[in-house]
Amino acid sequence: MGFELRINAPAKLNLHLELLGKRADGYHELETVMLAIDRHDVLEIARQPEPTVDLVDAGWIPHRRMWTDRGIDAELPPASDNLVCRALERFRDGFGIRGGFRVRLQKAIPAAAGLGGASSDAAKALVGAARLHGLDHHRTGLRKLAGEIGSDVPFFLDTDRTFAALATGRGEVLRPLPVGGRLWFVVSYPPAGLSTGVVYARSQVPVRPRSVAPLIDALARGNLQQLAKSLFNRLQEPATMLCPWVDRLLARLRAVAPLAVMMSGSGSACFALFPDRRTAVRGAKRMQGMQDGISFVAATACGG
Ligand code: C5P
Repeated sequence: MGFELRINAPAKLNLHLELLGKRADGYHELETVMLAIDRHDVLEIARQPEPTVDLVDAGWIPHRRMWTDRGIDAELPPASDNLVCRALERFRDGFGIRGGFRVRLQKAIPAAAGLGGASSDAAKALVGAARLHGLDHHRTGLRKLAGEIGSDVPFFLDTDRTFAALATGRGEVLRPLPVGGRLWFVVSYPPAGLSTGVVYARSQVPVRPRSVAPLIDALARGNLQQLAKSLFNRLQEPATMLCPWVDRLLARLRAVAPLAVMMSGSGSACFALFPDRRTAVRGAKRMQGMQDGISFVAATACGG
């Protein structure tokens, strides 16, 4: 049986991530700049009369061997833990839908990487379900559901139009940001993931937070030199303590001569900023020579 809808769910990079405080509910108040990139999972959805949400197929693109051969644990969580299923169940209950959904998920975004793969899949599941049920206009309802599923999820609702955003609160309060030119990166993922909660638990809120203003300005102007100087991630230090791969990966990326390197989100993936497509492709080729982990070229999802 076919599917009614096929949606791309993009990955993100955090160009800036600062902690502003620890909240009573255990979350951190933060300030982060998220950028959607052109690496994406593929989600297919169809409605069904039965009220269940069935993940009928989940796998890796191009194939699982490509990941496991490079030391990556390519186990996907059981359907009951999959954020896509949780998102669709909440959608069904929240909007009082009678039937359920069938879903197929093909992953190209590594998991536990700080690239937002699971959050993006969940957001696009909500977008797809809303489209199939003619509920796209329920922006506030969808945003609320998205925020309940995960802090990063709301950002991905609008990545077709908003490629970059400043996220505050616990990550769910969004302000779209202008992007002055297409940015080129090499993204590398080591053969070890990191749990977001564990990295946050090891983090420290600084006395004087780093300002995001220079990065926002550099992004708007497409000023690569200033952007390179402004990349920042407060979670890089605790992630490095938890996973020695992060430092190793950053050093390898630095050796291929980008403008700057940084870890994304709560890790363990890291990225390098390059001046243009040609240098990024060359950098990725050198990184792909590594026996373990994966590296790929990525650009801003669109625009510029
Ligand atoms: O929201 P999400 O489920 O993605 O968060 C996973 C974990 O990361 C949370 O349980 C919390 O420990 C931590 N977190 C945090 N502050 C945030 C976002 C996440 O402490 N702003």
